Amino acid sequence: MSNIIEFKNVSKTYGSGTHALNNASLNIEKGEFVFIVGASGAGKSTFLKLIMHEETPTRGTIIVNGTNVSKLKRKKVPYLRRNMGIVFQDFRLIDKMTVYDNVAFAMRAIGARPSAVRKRVPYILELVGLSHKAQNRPSELSGGEQQRVSLARALVNNPSIIIADEPTGNIDPEMSYEIIGLLSEINAQGTTILVVTHEHDLVRRFNKRVIEIEKGKVISDTKEPVIEDVEVEFDDSKYELDPPSEEISEAIAAALEEQTEIPEQAEDEPAVEPTDEETESADAVETEDKEAE
Ligand SMILES: Nc1ncnc2c1ncn2[C@@H]1O[C@H](COP(=O)(O)OP(=O)(O)OP(=O)(O)O)[C@@H](O)[C@H]1O
Ligand SMILES: [Mg+2]
Repeated sequence: MSNIIEFKNVSKTYGSGTHALNNASLNIEKGEFVFIVGASGAGKSTFLKLIMHEETPTRGTIIVNGTNVSKLKRKKVPYLRRNMGIVFQDFRLIDKMTVYDNVAFAMRAIGARPSAVRKRVPYILELVGLSHKAQNRPSELSGGEQQRVSLARALVNNPSIIIADEPTGNIDPEMSYEIIGLLSEINAQGTTILVVTHEHDLVRRFNKRVIEIEKGKVISDTKEPVIEDVEVEFDDSKYELDPPSEEISEAIAAALEEQTEIPEQAEDEPAVEPTDEETESADAVETEDKEAE
């Protein structure tokens, strides 16, 4: 197995002087499912933001999919993110668009054909249980529903890595279990998954690799998480949920195999130059993001 993510002696100090990450070295292999845990302010989101190049490291080297992203030029970032599905901690949905268009936009931005969008978006919305909200605006949804739109947007382009910052932060335990179950199914088809969570019960239940960060340092990295102050046994009866059915597993497998007609990406050259319209709409989104903050 080869590494999809490599951190070599990576530190991140913000302008404020906060040492958010301190000399972190670790590898994540293609196809792994990793939970990232740690107290608030430990550096979990910073870790993810370094991977997606939303932040740059102060020291050290970060390799993602064979590319050194530590010093990636701004115009190359969209090509890095093409292979990533990102669930942001603060959702970052566009309120001027419907739920449907928020998800469709991610496909259109990479040049997917309208016929592929029409087929894929309803399917993904169904997968996260939001078909009935397709024509609503994000502001008309509950926190948990917005979170699921954000997840749908991350899944829609069938990325090779899914990076989810607290994808269950606003969701009740049953739904959380389902969402992680869904990610687990997607992982079983080969997608690498990184999930930040505070929910120790969930972490125990799914028995995956757990990276624990404390004050910017990786303090444990194991399948046997050293998490204190939680019940030792996961109580399945609390959730009263069956494992994902064969039908769901098959549906996910089919969705992942389905061609979304994403253009092949050349090493250095973009296969398809974004049209002016796309560039403009992407700029508009950036502006909206800033305004929303
Ligand atoms: N843009 C920023 N500028 C300055 N300091 C920042 C910035 N982003 C994060 N920090 C600081 O870096 C540290 C790590 O923050 P980070 O967001 O990575 O924590 P976290 O583990 O994701 O926490 P939470 O569980 O609350 O989301 C914190 O002390 C935080 O205040
Ligand atoms: Mg965070």
